[in-house]
This record gives sequence, structure tokens and C-alpha cells, in this order.
Amino acid sequence: MIMLKRRSATSESDMTRGDTRLSPGRYAFRAYAVRGLLVLMLVGASSAWTVAPVSAQRADDPAAASIIARDALFHPPVAKNGMVAAEDRTAAEVGVEILGKGGNAVDAAVATGFALAVTHPQAGNLGGGGFMLIALPARNKVIALDYREMAPAAATRDLFLGPDGEVDNDKARYSRASAGVPGTVAGLIHALDTYGTMSLAEILAPAIRLAEDGIQVPRGLAFALAGNRVRFEKDPSSVKYFMHPEGRPYDTGETLKQPDLGRTLRVIAAEGRRGFYEGKVADAIVAEMREGDGLITHEDLKGYRVVEREPVRGNYRGFEITSMPPPSSGGAHLIEMLNILEGFDLKAAGHNSADYIHRLVEAMRRAYADRAKHMGDPDFWKVPVSGLTSENYAEGLRNGINLARASKSAEIFAGAPPAREGEQTTHFSVIDKDGNAVANTYTLNFTFGSGYSVDGAGFLLNNEMDDFSAKPGVPNAFGLIGGEANAIEPRKRPLSSMTPTIVLKDGQPYIVTGSPGGSTIITVVLQLLLNMLDFDMNVMEAASAPRIHHQWLPDTVITERGISPDTVRLLEDRGFIFPRGPDGRLVNRILGRTNSIARQSGYLFGAADPRAADGAIAAY
Ligand code: DON
Repeated sequence: MIMLKRRSATSESDMTRGDTRLSPGRYAFRAYAVRGLLVLMLVGASSAWTVAPVSAQRADDPAAASIIARDALFHPPVAKNGMVAAEDRTAAEVGVEILGKGGNAVDAAVATGFALAVTHPQAGNLGGGGFMLIALPARNKVIALDYREMAPAAATRDLFLGPDGEVDNDKARYSRASAGVPGTVAGLIHALDTYGTMSLAEILAPAIRLAEDGIQVPRGLAFALAGNRVRFEKDPSSVKYFMHPEGRPYDTGETLKQPDLGRTLRVIAAEGRRGFYEGKVADAIVAEMREGDGLITHEDLKGYRVVEREPVRGNYRGFEITSMPPPSSGGAHLIEMLNILEGFDLKAAGHNSADYIHRLVEAMRRAYADRAKHMGDPDFWKVPVSGLTSENYAEGLRNGINLARASKSAEIFAGAPPAREGEQTTHFSVIDKDGNAVANTYTLNFTFGSGYSVDGAGFLLNNEMDDFSAKPGVPNAFGLIGGEANAIEPRKRPLSSMTPTIVLKDGQPYIVTGSPGGSTIITVVLQLLLNMLDFDMNVMEAASAPRIHHQWLPDTVITERGISPDTVRLLEDRGFIFPRGPDGRLVNRILGRTNSIARQSGYLFGAADPRAADGAIAAY
């Protein structure tokens, strides 16, 4: 295995809002041999390669795929057989180990998902939930697996309102009551049983090994553990699991062992889904609830349901977009925005020019206005998905955009799409040698979820209940508002923005991507796709380019560093609002952390987002 390793220090602000800042990295080059496979490992990425990986990988230029594009700013690692892009190097390696043993993309994704629960406890999880998009080109099939948390049966609409009728954010975000019924274990096992080829015991072996023998704490995890200390300190079991026995945060490189988690994984390996949702682990979850105001019961756990859904689909400039349907808002709004934007010549406007950002923001504004009104769990609320993703509807929205002046969000309301006339999250992508692909985004919601761990079972509980609309019009932690469609109801799934996405070309996976970042996820995925499909960037350039975000309300455009101040001034002249500090300086934020793979001309090109400290591509 060949590894490129970043050595710089990371500074990171509040990861619950997806904020991660990196200083430019330096890389050292080391060679390893791992199980006879040649594996190219890339830890993070930046403009400062000391070793340039191969490849050109222009978006639509097959002939260029095997040579170096001399004009590329950033080069993706390239491989021929299989690839995993994940937010943690060890977990990505686990996926490739499984591919090397003959496993398919689903086997590798499930193994990576369980490994991340050990190596990346900020977001990798057993106690959370998520979505997995699976493309099986030989069967001409794309499956959207919904293993989102469900509200406990005892949850009520006003669960998070205090006696004064106002939202109690502490309860909604940092209490045992903020935990929905976890879906991850059921979801990963469902994927493996239905679409994988290997046994659960084989798939879980690496995660068990990592939990019991310990991991060397990577830099990003050390930083996150230190930064979120206050969140653990309210819960002795979290302190036991995630603080050094000397009562301090772990340093980078120190060994973190998780024997209780290892035991839980062993029970799952032996008993399958029942090992988590019934028996001793379920007892421990229910006991943890009783330590406070938690609602999850044995019946809730036993009744947890994974749902296979039809992915949402759209066409963009000849490519087929497949993504996550509700209860994620991600896929439908991704397609809504692409449909609006397809009517503009974005290439002529120029990447990140004022004209381009103007069109992007107006598309985002309209999609997020629709999100607030129309989106919720489709098992409880009639979501007009086909209307939202229809080209006619998008055309109407596009015609309402003034290309000279900014719209005002206060004057933009959710449209009436035709009824059916029709800190923390983490994403990983996998492609195997047969072209099967998996895009998986899963989460505890905030970094380390609610901060509460299930005592004796070794894992953290999510705080996903904050993704519901606790009170109409009152924003959640990501500033998102909602109403009736996303009100709390027993057994309902909170609305999500997670957007695991697979772009197909001629029926074959072409781009596999997704991102954390709360409300920003959808616009981050949008820009990754536009960068490749409109601006001919390779996947590494597309991941690295500075991004912007707008979500209708608040009516401000968020920018990353790298968006030109001149461009911002041009847009301010047109009436767009950018957050500025008291000194007048533009306030920047990090937007998302994609982990993507592109497949072109028989080659795989990977991009671990340079915004993540521990992200990696593993391949063979
Ligand atoms: O499902 C959602 O949309 C949120 N719970 C995701 C949270 C998230 O991405 C936080 N990470 N930065």
C-alpha cells in the first residue's frame, strides 16, 4: 500500500455545523504492503502534493483518462479495480480489504460502515441512522435504502416545548429524549443480507478487531474529542469511552480501545439484527433511557423498520441523476435545483463568477422554500416528489428569477408543485470491479450525537429528533424551519438533508458522492456535480473548489474562503446579502466534506474532501 499522509495541524470550529478548517497540508510518502494488494492511499488532499498521483480525468473526455492532465489544479488518485472514499483512512482500508477478498461494493460498504462506528465515532455509528444508495448496473437497478431513525412511540408533537411554549433546545439536542430509534445496524444488515455476498461475521471481523485491539487516534478525531469534551462530561459512560483514563482527551496517535463496543459487535455478529434490537444490548439502551428522560422502549427497538424506497431520478445534460427520496429532502431538491439550472448556460457565466453564483443562489432559495413547506416523512405526509422534480415546475421557477437583482427571501414562498399527475454526519462512496456502486451517508446528527453513550454497550446515541420541526417556523440547529409536514409524530422519521447520490451515464455509475454538513449537504452535492458536469473539473478539482450556500432563510449567502471579494461586491450591488463581521470582513465557513469516486473509461478516480482531517481514498 502506498500512502500519502498529511502532517499539518488542524484547526476546527464547531463541527456540529459542519465547520472544519484546515491549514495547507504537507505530505510524507510511505510504502506498505497490505495483503498482497497494491493500494493507493490518500489522506486528505490539498494544493500541496509532494507526489502527484496519476490521471487526467476530465469529466467527459475518455481519451484523457489514462494520462496526466497538465492543466489540472488537483489530481485524484486513480485505480483500476475497486475504491473506497471515506472520512477515515482505517475504515477505507477495511472496505478495500473486503473488496480484495472478493466482496462486492455492498460487502465493502457494510464493513466500512461498521468500521467507521469504531474509528470515527464523531459520526460513524451504531446508535444513529442514515441512507444507502446502491447501484447494481448488471441488474439495471438502483435501490434507496432508508435506515433513518424513527421517533419513539411515546414521542409527541410538543415533546420539545417548555412550559412557556417555547422550544427547549437543550432537550431537543442534548438529552436522551433527543435520540430517535437507531436504524444503522438494521440498515447495514439489510443491505448485506439482500445485496451482499459475504457473511455478517466476516464483515464485522475488522470492526471487532479495531474495537478490541484499539485504534491509533487520528488527528481529526483527537481534535474533535478535545473540542467536544463538554458534551461528554455530563455522561460518565461517555467519559469512560472517549476520554483517556487519566481524565484528559486522547492525543493524536494514542491507542483508543473500545472493549464494550467490541462486545456489542460480537453479539451482532453472532445474532444478527436481533443482537442489537433485542436481548442484552436492547436492555442496555432501555436502561440508558431510564437514566434520564429518554423515550425508547423495547417495543420501539423491536419495531424498527428498514424501508427500501424508489430513488428520485432526474436528467441533467444527458446524465441520469439518482438520489435519496424522502424522508430525505436531499435528492428531490438536488434535482429541482439541477432542473432550474439546466436552462442556463453556466459554463458561459464562468465558474464562481457573480453571474453563476447569482443563478445558483436563486435556485437554492426556491428549493429550500419548498423544503420548509412540503418535506416530511412520506409514510406520514404526502410529499409532492414528482412535482418538485418535474422539469415544467422548474421552468416556472426559473422564469421567476430576475437576472439583474437578487430576490428577497421574504417575498419568495414555497411554490405549488403539481400534485402527482402524474458534526455530524459522514459520507462514504464505494465502487467494485464490476461497477457496482454504493453511496452511503449516515449520522448521529451532531458530532458525537447527543453526547450520551449506552452504558455497557459502548456506543453513542443520536440526537436526530432535533431534525423534526419542534414548533412551526422555529429553526432547528441548522437554521432550517418547517411545519406540519415535519412535525413530531410517533414512529415518524425526521426530515433529513442527507444526499447520497449516484450519477449514471449509459446506465453505468459515473459519479458516486455525498457529504455531511446539515442543511448545506444538498447545495454541496449540487456544486460537486456542477463542477464536473458543467465545468469539466476532475473529481479532485470538483471537491476542492470553494463553495457557496443559501437556504432561503436566513436570506444570506454563505461563502468559503476562495470566493473572490470582488465577486461578492458585485453580488452585493445586486442586492445579495453576505454575512460580514463587525470589522466589515466577510465571514466564511467550511461547507461540507464530500467523499467521491468517478468512474470513467474503466478507471476509478477518487477524492477525499480536502476539508477533512482524516479522509482517505483506499483502492486497488
Ligand atoms: O439528516 C440530516 O440532515 C442531519 N441530521 C445531518 C447532520 C449533519 O450533517 C451534521 N454534520 N455536519
